[in-house]
Amino acid sequence: KRVVVFISGSGSNMVSLADACAAPDFPAEIVAVISDKPAAGGLAKAQSRGISAHVFERKAYAGKAEHEAAILAALDEIKPDIICLAGYMRLISGEFIRPYAGRIINIHPSLLPLFPGLHTHERAIEAGMKIAGCSVHFVTEGMDEGPILAQAAVPVSTGDTVETLAARVLTVEHKLYPLALKLLAEGNVKMEDGKAVGGIAS
Ligand code: GRF
Repeated sequence: KRVVVFISGSGSNMVSLADACAAPDFPAEIVAVISDKPAAGGLAKAQSRGISAHVFERKAYAGKAEHEAAILAALDEIKPDIICLAGYMRLISGEFIRPYAGRIINIHPSLLPLFPGLHTHERAIEAGMKIAGCSVHFVTEGMDEGPILAQAAVPVSTGDTVETLAARVLTVEHKLYPLALKLLAEGNVKMEDGKAVGGIAS
């Protein structure tokens, strides 16, 4: 399956997907990386792996619709089967999602539906959670709202800060996202009637 990964930042999840895809029996390959930020550290990481990287900077377009139209036009050429959002910090419109419904997934560093959106780890610590985690979900119009296809739990330690918890969760994200992509690429999880059929706890 042809996969495009969307990033805005360091791209460590993109790298974990690229490393998994490099295994000969993995059912997917990353054909392009798209970033909305020219300074995203992940761009150089993609290029050093021989993956073509494209920048669509938000401010180069009149508005959200024009920005999305430019990316959709590029995707028409690239023809991905699956889109993985990996630290892509922009909410995608329903119009963008429609042609790829059930084929766009995102990773979020919480046990959804808890703590969607920003400042996830801070809110988990403030709430006194003893278990944090990460979720891979199908992308729908609401932020971090779509059906969950894979989830992993991570313990919260006494004295954890946002940084220590985020780092612990991130190492688990790097295992979970390739697993989720594999399931989707093999057809072992599907979005049907707004639910994920299949999927895993890890
Ligand atoms: C990850 O924690 C991801 O779950 C969140 O943003 C972070 C991105 O990190 N949405 P990276 O760019 O993959 O290193």
